[in-house]
Amino acid sequence: MSKKIIIGDLLDFLDDPAHAGESAVRYVEQGALLIENGKITQRGSKEEALALAAKSPDIDLVQYDNKLIIPGMIDTHVHYPQTEMIAAYGEQLLTWLTEHAFPTEKQFADKAHGSMVADVFLSELLKNGTTTALVFGTVHPQSVDAFFEVAQQKGLRMICGKVMMDRNCPDDLQDTAASGYADSKALIEKWHGVDRLSYAVTPRFAPTSTPEQLQACKKLLDEYEDVYMHTHVSENVDECAWVKELFPESKDYVGVYEDAGLLRKRSVLAHGIHFNERELCCVADNDTAIAHCPTSNLFIGSGLFNIQQMREHNIKVGMGTDVGGGSSFSLLKTYNEAYKVQQLQNNKLSAFEGLYLNTLGGARALDLEGIIGQLEVGCEADIAVLDYAGTPFMDFRLQRCKGIHEKLFALMMLGDDRSVFATYANGEKVHQR
Ligand code: GUN
Ligand code: ZN
Repeated sequence: MSKKIIIGDLLDFLDDPAHAGESAVRYVEQGALLIENGKITQRGSKEEALALAAKSPDIDLVQYDNKLIIPGMIDTHVHYPQTEMIAAYGEQLLTWLTEHAFPTEKQFADKAHGSMVADVFLSELLKNGTTTALVFGTVHPQSVDAFFEVAQQKGLRMICGKVMMDRNCPDDLQDTAASGYADSKALIEKWHGVDRLSYAVTPRFAPTSTPEQLQACKKLLDEYEDVYMHTHVSENVDECAWVKELFPESKDYVGVYEDAGLLRKRSVLAHGIHFNERELCCVADNDTAIAHCPTSNLFIGSGLFNIQQMREHNIKVGMGTDVGGGSSFSLLKTYNEAYKVQQLQNNKLSAFEGLYLNTLGGARALDLEGIIGQLEVGCEADIAVLDYAGTPFMDFRLQRCKGIHEKLFALMMLGDDRSVFATYANGEKVHQR
């Protein structure tokens, strides 16, 4: 039985600070976590931990100074097959898909290619302190096999699914309602609930699925109640107009998924920028979550996400990098852009609110509260150790900050993978800078 004590300054959240205020923030200087068999089994003070370690030679003791220990971060929307085309120049969503995303995704017919990219992708996540993600594969079932094999070998909690798309895409990226159903079902049977892996039924977005395929998605969700549903919604104005043409019967874009019966607790919709009031109420009523992807929304010119609206409707929101539409794997940099997106709308997004979205907010969006997203007894020991001195200049700036909020804000605004000193998954160190 592996046992470890990690000592350092601990920061996590008991609730959403946007609703509950500063009482939701739990910051403990020189606290300690006892980790046994991949789970946090005790929280205490440094003194208690040192006393326990002194009489227990089987415990590994790790002490971090000038660091901040947070829960491993959670990326609620990302495409692993787009790793190799991140930062592709010049297009907005619909042309970006045909010119950059689709050609790249064709390569995943080759499983070995998928395994190679999955390894690069997951290494980047861990370097950036991200320990769980909700991930798009490609239409090829072998892309999901490749991804889950690498994630399993690294001991990670990951959610992935095969893309379902049976129209408006290249022939060699197209499935059918029947084959998409059968391939997804086989992957669910093979992977869902194995170790720390879960499956997400993944229709790409309304324009690339026929109503028959959306019905096949619902059938899967009805047959396997705890699998996820993961798709895109209301990202780009041309996309929204196209959905209106393709689904004239539905009230609006969210209504397409509502009519198909795809909105439920474990449904996660990426973007949600151009919602009307009815759509906001519908997402809230169905306990569906939104993945906010600010680097992508800016990079491919989609628009400004209004987090205030989400809060007013009590909608669960997590943060997504949306690589390769997004321009960074770092959830610190993602907060940096989220902050500016709110500034442009005269809203504030505090560092506490941002780190909440990157941790407990993500866990809630994925229905994993109590399992990940907090430094809490009973949670899996997925942890990121942030460095206040990631570079000499960050050290210079952070030494001039007063108080934890000021320090955290500067760290998140200036930070990237250089600010992540170490990452633990399931109690094991999986990255050391
Ligand atoms: N909408 C449909 N497919 C995609 C995709 O791959 N990326 C983004 N950002 N939006 C999408
Ligand atoms: Zn996406």
